[in-house]
Amino acid sequence: MRILIIGSGGREHALAKAMDGHELFVAPGNAGIAEIATCLPCDVKDPLDVVKVAREVEADLVVIGPEIPLVAGAGDALREAGFAVFGPSQEAAQIEGSKAFAKDVMAAAGVKTAQAERITDVSEIDGVLDNFGPNYVVKDDGLAGGKGVVVTQDREAAAEHARSVIEGGNPVLVESFLDGPEVSLFCLVDGETVVPLLPAQDHKRAYDEDEGPNTGGMGAYAPLPWLPEEGVQRIVTEVVEPVAKEMVKRGIPYSGLLYAGLAWGADGPSVIEFNARFGDPETQAVLALLETPLADVLAATANGTLDQQPELQWKDGSAITVVLAAENYPASPVTGGAITGAGLERAVHAGTSTNDNGELVSSGGRVLNVVGVGADLAEARQDAYAQIEQIQLDGSFYRRDIGRRALDGEITV
Ligand code: AMP
Ligand code: GLY
Repeated sequence: MRILIIGSGGREHALAKAMDGHELFVAPGNAGIAEIATCLPCDVKDPLDVVKVAREVEADLVVIGPEIPLVAGAGDALREAGFAVFGPSQEAAQIEGSKAFAKDVMAAAGVKTAQAERITDVSEIDGVLDNFGPNYVVKDDGLAGGKGVVVTQDREAAAEHARSVIEGGNPVLVESFLDGPEVSLFCLVDGETVVPLLPAQDHKRAYDEDEGPNTGGMGAYAPLPWLPEEGVQRIVTEVVEPVAKEMVKRGIPYSGLLYAGLAWGADGPSVIEFNARFGDPETQAVLALLETPLADVLAATANGTLDQQPELQWKDGSAITVVLAAENYPASPVTGGAITGAGLERAVHAGTSTNDNGELVSSGGRVLNVVGVGADLAEARQDAYAQIEQIQLDGSFYRRDIGRRALDGEITV
């Protein structure tokens, strides 16, 4: 197949690696992706530009990585132009793009999630924070890529975040705090057909032991040794299938990857959020264990034949991904630094480019990912950390505790 992947991060590099062997085009891509695919310039916010690139490369399948093109309607524009597309329509992508839409679908489908109140005026902040009490969960109600959320016991910090979001022109969502370890479950969804991938766990905070600001994700591991055996099936039955049915009922069937972000509480899964795409960096770990050819299942989802696919096959063992972040990520990452070292050989590139002298340099906040695999989580961690220690980028940092709590049996449900 001639496959076009839209996007430029670690997720897209991992998708490309998992579809190696096909004729791969990635728009716009990055320095690492360019080693295994043809990279083409593209304004991913503009559905017409995405269609133009798909025409240029005569794509048999277009896989849309990030949320921005989905929410902008790239999926619809591509389908109208006759392409097979992995990724939901603009209307269906509202499950990620509009928290109000997601809450409405969940209410209609009877899916457990946090209570939420939306505020648009600073005068409402105090009253609403009083209603909820600590822990305070304060969210930017625009597309923030997981970065616009503050979870804190500090009342003043919660109020300050709410104020700055409202003054920046976006509404704020205040939510009840969901207690329990987090699960990212990615499901291939084609109408009412739901096929789960392995469950994973992200690490959202910037620094070790979950200190520091929320980020796009600093590392992940899969599968989850602490998740009850029936955990994935419960999430499918209690969360993803009801939502998929509700979308069909509304005349906006979902086609693509539905990412359920959940807290596993005392009575099972509650939804923190949905995303309309693969998660980054969980994808890097999950796909490292997939044995079934990825391109086949993405094409089947795109073509409406997911229900006829054989069961997914997985390697035994564990995988983890660790993110190397630029100095000052997430506040204002420093870019342009030279990246060197033997650890680069197997690295997944997230924010990299090549400068005028042909050197590999950083060009984003999350710069590189390493993926470790092993017979168990301990081995997978050793593999990943052995690689990342051999990568040099001035000022960069990474978390040293990805998967540690699970390994040490500190996560209990
Ligand atoms: P989101 O952008 O909604 O995924 O939020 C980012 C992160 O904030 C999540 O991965 C959680 O760690 C945390 N979070 C968001 N909403 C809640 C909630 N209602 N209760 C507890 N933690 C939350
Ligand atoms: N890893 C979190 C996300 O992709 O939104």
